[in-house]
Amino acid sequence: MEHNTALARARAYEQNQLHKCKDRPSFHLSPLTGWMNDPNGFCCYQGKYHLFYQYYPYDIKWGPMHWGHAVSADLLHWEYLPCALAPDSPADAAGCFSGSAVTGNKGELLLYYTGVQQSGDSSSVRQIQCLAIGDGLDFVKYESNPILDASSLPEGCSPADFRDPKVWMENGRYNMVVASRHEQDAGSILLYQSTDGHKWNYVCAVDASRKEYGQMWECPDFFALDGESILLVSPQEMSLKPGYHEGFVTLAVHGEGQADAFQRKYIHALDEGIELYAPQTTLSPDGRRIMIGWMNHWDNSRIAPRDGDCYGQMSLPRELRIEKGRLIQAPVRELLAWRKALCSMSGMHVEKPTEIAELPACSDTELHMPLDCGHGRSFTLRLFQNTSGETRIHFDLENMEMTFDRMYEAYDKAMIHSRNIALQDVGESLDVRLITDRQSIEIFLNRGKQTFTAVLPAASSRKLRIESEGGLCLDLDIYSLQRP
Ligand code: FRU
Repeated sequence: MEHNTALARARAYEQNQLHKCKDRPSFHLSPLTGWMNDPNGFCCYQGKYHLFYQYYPYDIKWGPMHWGHAVSADLLHWEYLPCALAPDSPADAAGCFSGSAVTGNKGELLLYYTGVQQSGDSSSVRQIQCLAIGDGLDFVKYESNPILDASSLPEGCSPADFRDPKVWMENGRYNMVVASRHEQDAGSILLYQSTDGHKWNYVCAVDASRKEYGQMWECPDFFALDGESILLVSPQEMSLKPGYHEGFVTLAVHGEGQADAFQRKYIHALDEGIELYAPQTTLSPDGRRIMIGWMNHWDNSRIAPRDGDCYGQMSLPRELRIEKGRLIQAPVRELLAWRKALCSMSGMHVEKPTEIAELPACSDTELHMPLDCGHGRSFTLRLFQNTSGETRIHFDLENMEMTFDRMYEAYDKAMIHSRNIALQDVGESLDVRLITDRQSIEIFLNRGKQTFTAVLPAASSRKLRIESEGGLCLDLDIYSLQRP
């Protein structure tokens, strides 16, 4: 297949880069080279998971967006494929922004993405929806792009903030939710439908932030799960309110009805950590709804210390289900095959500060604390030490709070480093699962009722220490994670 220059240049550049990026995460997808943000086009196609990503190959900071591409059989071990899209057509000359993928009627893979156009300063930005068609490796941009432009926007929506199409098939019809910014409703998610995937009609606004949950909603996803309808969105400029962090966050909107008749019931924070944004889901062949997110935060990503040849990583893919009205997230079960038991303790009494173990770079650690057997009403886990500091996770069981603090001198002052969350529905025991990779931690509380995702600096020592006031009783299992 013939490639135009921007794509050919990106593909040629990639050839010599892969081996250069040292210290990449082991099982969290990072860019082949350069910069990565949102997951795009997450799908299962011809027996493999495909994950595309917002990508700037030439630097470790954001630049004109390309789509990087990787495939996996188990959602954990990823193989890179050549860059899939580059900003090289009039419709997307200023960038190929986020979007999604579905299999078309003829077995082809359809990529829906936002084309960005800019003729002068930022007031000239226009965002339009585009299509590229391919075989899972090479993609040709549709000659009649865009498939949606400002003329398809309802009144009051800005043509400068119209992005991130998520497409799915339902009852033989293509559905697309797209993010937009409305004068009054602020972040507004628009629904379009199509019978052929090429011609689209506006249907309605599915839901909106109404300035209560941020000013703009990015990267929508919509799906049915366990009898409910779920809309995932990533608000920008969320203001501080109980149960939510401010700034860039992720929300799960629970409701009833299909997208064209969606009735919101309630909203809760999706991940309560610092670095998870723009998550996207797909269905696995065995019917699981799997979500993956960008493990970063726009504010931190701009100031994080960085050198090297690649920057950015995705979260662990997580299986979603609904339990008692909450979206539960569990690491994909494929991870169990990667576990190698390292250490197991049962009924361990911690009376004084104790070093429990040395965690390997990639580990899966389960702590189970029956709340009636210890006198300690608070304890602190200390881990990820390096010369500039360590991370502390403090549990206050009196007040049912968890405080996460990454205390590294090397961090820029403006870096969000600490967060406090209310522990919910704890019951008779507290279960904490910590999954660490070389530069990240994902905390699953009480089997995924709450999650906390954060990026960490590489550690020189991996001692896991525990301190408790008043003594503590716990069961502990530590596994190292290795590809089977
Ligand atoms: C979200 C986002 C998207 C946009 C992309 C650009 O992180 O701002 O709305 O499509 O990043 O890279």
